[in-house]
Amino acid sequence: MKTLIPAAGFGTRMLPAAKAVPKEMLPVLNVPVIQYVVQELADAGCDDVLLVVSDDKKAIEDHFDRRGELERRLDEKGKRAFVASVDALMERVQVFSVRQREQLGLGHAVLQGKRHVGEEPFICALGDTIFSGGTAPATQLIEAQKRLGGSVVGLERVPTDRVGRYGIAAGEMVDHATMRVSGFVEKPAPDAAPSDLAIAARYLLSPTIFPLLEDTKPGADGEIQLTDALQRLCNIEPVHGVVLEAQRHDIGNPTDWLETNLIYAARDQQMRERIAPLARELFGG
Ligand code: UTP
Repeated sequence: MKTLIPAAGFGTRMLPAAKAVPKEMLPVLNVPVIQYVVQELADAGCDDVLLVVSDDKKAIEDHFDRRGELERRLDEKGKRAFVASVDALMERVQVFSVRQREQLGLGHAVLQGKRHVGEEPFICALGDTIFSGGTAPATQLIEAQKRLGGSVVGLERVPTDRVGRYGIAAGEMVDHATMRVSGFVEKPAPDAAPSDLAIAARYLLSPTIFPLLEDTKPGADGEIQLTDALQRLCNIEPVHGVVLEAQRHDIGNPTDWLETNLIYAARDQQMRERIAPLARELFGG
């Protein structure tokens, strides 16, 4: 299955860090966020990844390209292991890229993949969000789509007081973790929310989404929203939502990015030994 990673946004909330370094290249521990996303797709058996990048995000393409001089030096010094994780990934997936020349929103970014993706269902994984623990989202979406057909959107349960930050799914639960989606409500007030299930950065989409995106007008914020096209997709083809098992980490803002780093550090034996006493000293407890 082909996959697409939108990674062309301005990353305003991560400025000034994201001014010259794409936010998708910021690290969680020593690995850039986007590498975790590609890893997730590779682990789900996908070997074709299309990066949607902007003109000034060449660093993302370079990360998945060969770096002759660096590799030669590392080989000479017996230090090739430092790039082993990305080397191994590049053996498993072919990474392509396409430019989103103007940042006209997530829907517009997805539309840039139309020619590459063609007429097959594809996975769309946001480049600024990673997952840990449980079945990886891409794997879960592929399994769900085999069972349910149509399109499948990854969902996350969110506390009622936070529904206003997300696109919230409406529909009927088919089982405890699967919803037949009838529509989406963007950033609802808590008492108007149709559920507590938020769209969670991973989608398996039918190619019917492309003509719908072409036909989607920019919303109030001037951006072409993927959610608007998804809303219309629900009226044409089956769309299901599955509650993702893994924990979501959005690194698009400094607090969540730091939190994610701490969570990953806590899982690494060596880092844990260094960080735990410091965390106790700084934060108490
Ligand atoms: P976000 O809205 O979280 O990213 O989009 P952003 O626009 O970069 O962030 P802020 O609001 O300015 O801080 C989710 C994903 O969609 C991509 C982003 O790169 C991110 O991975 N995106 C967003 C695009 O590829 N193109 C766009 O026009 C907008």
